[in-house]
Amino acid sequence: MGNFDQSNISGIYAPPELLPEPLPPDPMALVSAWLDEATRRKVQPNPNAIALATVGQDGRPQCRIVLCKGLSVERGWLTFFTNYTSRKGDALASHAFAAATMHWDTLDRQVRIEGPVERVSGSESDAYYATRPVESRLGAWASDQSRPIPSRKAMLEKVEDTAARLGLTPEMIVANEGSIARPPHWGGYRLWAARVELWMAGPGRVHDRAVWTRSVTPFASEMKCGAWEATRLQP
Ligand SMILES: Cc1cc2nc3c(=O)[nH]c(=O)nc-3n(C[C@H](O)[C@H](O)[C@H](O)COP(=O)(O)O)c2cc1C
Repeated sequence: MGNFDQSNISGIYAPPELLPEPLPPDPMALVSAWLDEATRRKVQPNPNAIALATVGQDGRPQCRIVLCKGLSVERGWLTFFTNYTSRKGDALASHAFAAATMHWDTLDRQVRIEGPVERVSGSESDAYYATRPVESRLGAWASDQSRPIPSRKAMLEKVEDTAARLGLTPEMIVANEGSIARPPHWGGYRLWAARVELWMAGPGRVHDRAVWTRSVTPFASEMKCGAWEATRLQP
């Protein structure tokens, strides 16, 4: 037990810093602040890693890590980039909803975001694709992500063939040179937050949790978002 008042029960369980009291009406600024802090303090090599769960056409859950490449505090969404014909792409085509979890172990913090998913615009995907190293851009062309391949050797041959087709020499790849257009099957998704839960570890496993919910519904070509409602949860 730390340096807090031990003369009563709530003193024993009161650590120096937990979720704000009262809760802010909108959780996204806190999500952004936590991600910024994890990035600044280099708590792990990929502080923007998220476990992304989707539901397959068979109705079963599936989960994998992707990197969060954008977050809007104002609109309440996050973006990630991937192959639209991958297993997750197929899942999102049949169920356009996802759950994303970020976890920073050394900060004792977890963020859970759930909601509808849509593709970002082609121009937004182009802009992000253009910032990627040439190796990654080549990989996006070469890999039919999530499809079978007979061997590792066959995959490397596919990368080589794709490089030749795109006019990329080994020297260009090493020097990170060459302009390649984005493959049409690769791009971004936006996960709109309809439910956000923040978790901080508390002493004696009396953790601090809070959840924010709002409606998010497609409206014309946009998402229409209702007001947030916040409540604390038992750990
Ligand atoms: C740290 C880390 C970051 C990753 N980032 C991405 C990413 O941003 N996009 C992506 O498509 N796959 C990423 N992957 C690979 C995925 O976890 C996964 O293997 C791949 O997307 C295929 O998943 P699927 O078959 O469910 O579609 C990452 C894996 C790890 C371990």
